[in-house]
Amino acid sequence: MQVLESIEKFYSSEKIVKFYSEQSLFPLEEILFKKYLTRKGTILDLCCGAGRASFPLSEMGFEVIGIDINEKLIKAAREKAVNYSNTSFILSDVEKVDFPENYFDYILVLHNSLEFIPGKKKRNNIIRKLNLCLKKDGVLITTFHSAYYPFHVARKLLKSNIKRQVAATTIRHGKPNWTDSEGMPPKGLRPWMAKIKWSYRSGETNNKAFLKKNFLQCNSIRNIHNPEMEHNDFFYKKDSLFYHLFTPWEIYRAFTGCGFKLHAVHGSREILAWDNPVKKYFCKLLIPFDYTFWIFKKK
Ligand SMILES: C[S@@+](CC[C@H](N)C(=O)[O-])C[C@H]1O[C@@H](n2cnc3c(N)ncnc32)[C@H](O)[C@@H]1O
Repeated sequence: MQVLESIEKFYSSEKIVKFYSEQSLFPLEEILFKKYLTRKGTILDLCCGAGRASFPLSEMGFEVIGIDINEKLIKAAREKAVNYSNTSFILSDVEKVDFPENYFDYILVLHNSLEFIPGKKKRNNIIRKLNLCLKKDGVLITTFHSAYYPFHVARKLLKSNIKRQVAATTIRHGKPNWTDSEGMPPKGLRPWMAKIKWSYRSGETNNKAFLKKNFLQCNSIRNIHNPEMEHNDFFYKKDSLFYHLFTPWEIYRAFTGCGFKLHAVHGSREILAWDNPVKKYFCKLLIPFDYTFWIFKKK
């Protein structure tokens, strides 16, 4: 299955459209937006889905332009936009759209979006475009799951046939951040995680079938579907959704190489610990493994 096809199929399902239409800002986003979206202005919500973030931001007084490739999500957003005067939604592949230079005060690329763009070249083209359309004193906020997220690391270890116990230990001692950006385990994963916990206690991690069923969720598509695919490119087995997992360095290099400078990076656990300086400091050390918020400004 091709990348765009897999994204189209996944995000067109009734369940996903409903999810993205009903969700609002995640609590951690609310905290960060208060910190960084300090003056009113125009926001580009890139890969906006059904406007999960666009609508609350419009209620806060921002003018928001959302863009997404998925027809059903944009349709849902446009229907909702009837009740909002300062939102508009564009149906397009981000690669194919151009914005006026120095136009946006803020750009948001939220909740795993660049991960769906295949190929470093394409991603860099998009990031360069974002740099051009951001105002000189503008701010770009983007979020990523790390490729070093303990679960992914464990999966990789399993894939490369290193002893199964090593992977299990990585997860157990790595104390994985099973939480989503709301500080809760993603709903779909909860029963599955409960199983894992139980399996540690019972020592069932040695069971090959159990591991296969629960950990080998991804197919590395290198050499399978397309030899051009890069390291950390996957099609998730369950729904064939394409995904590129970024390492923190890759995020840093991609943005700083395309005209941005890093202003700040925050891990989700760090934000949860913001009222405790000591805890906050230690949580910063976990950033490479965490769900992270990156704040970039123009160089
Ligand atoms: C995980 S969703 C995030 C949606 C939204 N940013 C949010 O936080 O609710 C990723 C979105 O990226 C969109 N997307 C993927 N590839 C795209 C592309 N090439 N151009 C535009 N949108 C794209 C998908 O359709 C999907 O809505």
